Parts: sequence; structure tokens; C-alpha cells
Amino acid sequence: MSKVRVAHIVAAAANGVIGRAGDLPWHIPEDMKWFRDRTRGRALIMGRKTFEAVEHPLPKRLNVVITRQKNYKPKDSGNADTPVHVVATLDEAMKYCLACADKYENEIFIIGGGEIYHQSVPLVDTIYLTRIHQNYEGDATYPDPDPKLFELVEKSDRTSPVSFSFETWARR
Ligand SMILES: NC(=O)c1ccc[n+]([C@@H]2O[C@H](COP(=O)([O-])OP(=O)(O)OC[C@H]3O[C@@H](n4cnc5c(N)ncnc54)[C@H](OP(=O)(O)O)[C@@H]3O)[C@@H](O)[C@H]2O)c1
Repeated sequence: MSKVRVAHIVAAAANGVIGRAGDLPWHIPEDMKWFRDRTRGRALIMGRKTFEAVEHPLPKRLNVVITRQKNYKPKDSGNADTPVHVVATLDEAMKYCLACADKYENEIFIIGGGEIYHQSVPLVDTIYLTRIHQNYEGDATYPDPDPKLFELVEKSDRTSPVSFSFETWARR
């Protein structure tokens, strides 16, 4: 069996902000396409607030939602192509995704939000970080990759609609 890869995929402002009042503080179509293309067919892990912010399960992906609520029922519980699975801990989310990883290209994406990113840094081997080169006000953040733990291996700059870069960080 090939090794299962685990990654964060995130867009963060220069000051680390990733969200404001349950939404993204920016609209960058190229970054949305990057997210869709990169995660299609993969297993996704997300916090309950991010799941609700997206409003529907992300199509053609496994959607694993973490919540402390005992009887949490998603408004939309997906379908065979787009399954939704609710778990109580990050550990349980990882175990579930690992058990069916071969159906999802052996790749697990942790897609946020802030609470889940902060707790899962030790689990990831790659960070796909869209870095927006200006500050935003917000209430959810992503931690700067620690250069002692992660190395910047790819960077591609963009100027529209704002200045940003697609960065790939690999665990050293
Ligand atoms: N820029 C980006 O790339 C990006 C990506 C994703 C999200 N976002 C933004 O981030 C914001 C949401 O982030 P957030 O930090 O507020 O929320 P979140 O991480 O999406 O979800 C937090 C929820 O997850 C559950 N949870 C967290 N830790 C848990 C644990 N250890 N065990 C069990 N359940 C746990 C809890 O759900 P219950 O309350 O149900 O118990 C908690 O309220 C939004 O603004 C969203 O738009 C941005």
C-alpha cells in the first residue's frame, strides 16, 4: 500500500487571518479553482463551522466533519459520490480517512478552519498555503509555517485580484 499523504490547504493573509464572521475576507477565483482541482476525489477533514460555512458537502470528495455535539445532524448528509461522515475527534477523523484512503488517491486534506488547522499541524507532511500579501481583519487564523519544521519548496506569484503567492511547504 502506498503511503498516505496528509496536507493542509489554506489561504492566509500576511497577518495570518483566514476568516471573518464565518466567511472568507477575500474573493480570489484562481485560489478557489486551485482548491477545487487539488482536493477533487480526495478525503477532506474539516471543523463543523467550516462545514456549515461551505453550506453543502464538497462534491466528489469524502467530507469528514469534526464536532463535539453528540447528535449533530448535517443539514445535507451527502450521497454515495459525496459522502459526509461526522466524528467526535481529530484522531477519529484521521483513522476514518486512513481506513478508506485507497478510495481517495491516498491523500487527506485538512481544510480548516482555524481551530482544526492549529490542532493538526503535527499531522501534516505538506502545507499548500495561498499567501495573500496584505493584512485583513478577522477572527480565525493560520499559524506561520515553522521554518525549522517546514521548508518552502515551491512558490508561484500572482498579482490579480490582489498580490498573492501559491506556496508549497514540505516537512523537513
Ligand atoms: N482561508 C481558508 O483557507 C479557510 C479555510 C477554512 C475555513 N476558513 C474560515 O475559518 C473560519 C472557521 O474557522 P473556526 O476556527 O471558527 O472553526 P472550525 O475550525 O471550522 O470549526 C470549529 C468547530 O470544530 C469542532 N471542533 C474543533 N476542535 C475540536 C476537537 N478537538 N474535537 C471535536 N470537535 C472539535 C467544534 O464544533 P462544535 O462547535 O460543533 O462542537 C468547533 O466549534 C470561517 O471564517 C471560515 O470561512 C478559512
